Amino acid sequence: MTLTKAPKPVRKAVFPVAGLGTRFLPATKVMPKEMLPLAGKPLIQHAVEEARAAGIEEFIFVTGRYKEMLEEHFDHQPELMNTLEARGRADLMDRLKSADLPEGSLFLTRQARPLGLGHAIWCARKLVGDEPFAILLPDDVVQAREGCLSQMMKTYEQTGGNLVAVMDVPREDTRKYGVVDPGAEDGQIVQVRGLVEKPDPARAPSTLSIIGRYILQPEVFNHLAAFDRGAGGEIQLTDAMEKLIGQQDFHAFRYDGTRYDCGSPAGFLQANLAWGLADPETAPALRAFIAWQESGKMPAAFDSSAKTGTQS
Ligand code: G1P
Repeated sequence: MTLTKAPKPVRKAVFPVAGLGTRFLPATKVMPKEMLPLAGKPLIQHAVEEARAAGIEEFIFVTGRYKEMLEEHFDHQPELMNTLEARGRADLMDRLKSADLPEGSLFLTRQARPLGLGHAIWCARKLVGDEPFAILLPDDVVQAREGCLSQMMKTYEQTGGNLVAVMDVPREDTRKYGVVDPGAEDGQIVQVRGLVEKPDPARAPSTLSIIGRYILQPEVFNHLAAFDRGAGGEIQLTDAMEKLIGQQDFHAFRYDGTRYDCGSPAGFLQANLAWGLADPETAPALRAFIAWQESGKMPAAFDSSAKTGTQS
């Protein structure tokens, strides 16, 4: 598959972060669910770093009430930096800097009512304007050698148009996802003939399901503006995307990597375990711990902390 003309570059990404996070109450009573830490970094930072690595220059948060902590997280923090500098903690200063965004690159809009993902994206229409854009749902975290959005950007160079990341799910789980009606396949790229939001497993056109990574053309806003209600009575992004099929190129992409649903308590714990096992500093202790748990034979003495104590 080769395009005659390079597609318009994707410079902007939308992060819908207005959701309530009820599945994590009371942890999310005052703290946004996107601030939950996955291996020491909030979920939102994982998503923003993935977008930056893919070349995104403008970060658009669709936020809501009690979510101010999310924007503050990406601010430069001079007091803390000064304290760390005085203590000679260049290592911690580097860690902190990883959460700084270039000035003038973070944009905010608000979704005042919880009317669905499609509505959240529509709220970003003025900030996106007339150019292709990415969407990252911070609940979905992908562990991969190359970031999921970076992989998609390379694929988009070949396909142009609209591109969604997909994975196969067990058939009984199609009711949790937007599901693709697949056409011709070319390696990891699948032609999209249709899309259905949260279909009944018996009626699902396939088990190929969308995860929270999209590259879309701005025309999707025209369809979102109809405010049609879909599955669950919500304004669904999937329904607006479905209307683009036949008008524009539309492909699904089987990315390399493992996606964790950090919006579910089990998925969130699995992700923490996966990251912990991938980190050479924590992996040995975690592996030993899992072995003990599985064998039921705990050692007589057990100290879960690996480090000795400087004040932290
Ligand atoms: C949303 C989308 C769905 C997609 C899913 C991926 O659903 O509506 O199409 O498959 O994200 O995580 P939600 O999880 O918000 O119900």
